[in-house]
Amino acid sequence: MNASGAKIAITGCGSFTPTQVITNDDLGRLVDTSDEWIRTRTGISHRHLASPDTSLSDISAQAAQEAIAMAGLTPKDIDLIILATSTPDDLFGSAAKVQQLLGAYNAVAFDLTAACSGFVFALITAAQFIRTGVYQRVVVIGADILSRWIDWSDRNTCVLFGDGAGAVVCQANLHEDRLLGFDMYSDGRQHHSLNLSYGGQEKTLKDEITISQGTYHPITMNGREVYRFAVAKVPEVIERALFHANISRDDIDWLILHQANQRIMCAVAQRLKIPSEKVIANLEEYGNTSAASIPIALDEAVRDGKIKTGDVIASSGFGAGLTWGAVIFRWGI
Ligand code: ACO
Repeated sequence: MNASGAKIAITGCGSFTPTQVITNDDLGRLVDTSDEWIRTRTGISHRHLASPDTSLSDISAQAAQEAIAMAGLTPKDIDLIILATSTPDDLFGSAAKVQQLLGAYNAVAFDLTAACSGFVFALITAAQFIRTGVYQRVVVIGADILSRWIDWSDRNTCVLFGDGAGAVVCQANLHEDRLLGFDMYSDGRQHHSLNLSYGGQEKTLKDEITISQGTYHPITMNGREVYRFAVAKVPEVIERALFHANISRDDIDWLILHQANQRIMCAVAQRLKIPSEKVIANLEEYGNTSAASIPIALDEAVRDGKIKTGDVIASSGFGAGLTWGAVIFRWGI
């Protein structure tokens, strides 16, 4: 979808990944797995993991700071901060803490939760505020520290995830509209496929008044179901976003998918007939960093000089919910 209104450009990006790295061989010493299994089934060989003294707010602010600097702005220029995360430091939200760390006191900040679709959903949300003329300079952050919510004895999930943060700056643009199209979906009927759920125990406060108290339990996932869903729905949502953008798949310069599994990325690219040279992938180094994976991959490709101003990027996030979405944009101003 694309509506008339203020024009939009994505003018800066940044990312942060922790320095601690765990390899496939390291995981082979924790659970019954092997480097060969993990590489061939997922394409992952390392993940960067946040240390105990690192907060989600810290890594988010670091990524945002870089993005703001690349856009040629200062934190005080920012009107809105949207933090896409499923792993806030505080269940009440971490975006306002990020605002404080940045010193972005003219902004309003809030969290948005949509698992691995979070960055794409947040970017689309930011675009609506710019389109309507309400805000002009928005920071969108995707950040997650899933290592805190993984069962490190479950080989089905512990080999997949890493930690990190990525951010972009979206701005109202006088000249050209560079956010070309998008589309987004959710299907709660498949909610059971991927969860990080609350589970509590009954506690009686007084006669006939019982509540639940507990915590969240580590990630559970039906990998095969999620795999099938991703391969079916991601090409479809990218096609729809291309339709709204009124361009064809041949116009795509770069495909940046949520970095969940190399086989999913290859299958999606094949279905869309996009050559592998146009697929940006970094999950070998970082694993699946959830909401952070797309902006980290974007940031690396921009800073490497791979993505150039004006290039058309098709990006798609997908994950728990289940949720999925795509956005098509031209990089830069
Ligand atoms: N090492 C060795 N063996 C393993 C491991 C492991 N780490 N994990 C699972 N296995 C075993 C299974 O137990 C199973 O054994 P069995 O046949 O004896 O039961 C066998 O390997 C095959 O398991 P499958 O689940 O069929 O393996 P598959 O080829 O589907 O790969 C994977 C699993 C990598 C999880 C894949 O299904 C996948 O990537 N799914 C998508 C995950 C995803 O995209 N998540 C994104 C969203 S994340 C978010 O929103 C937070």
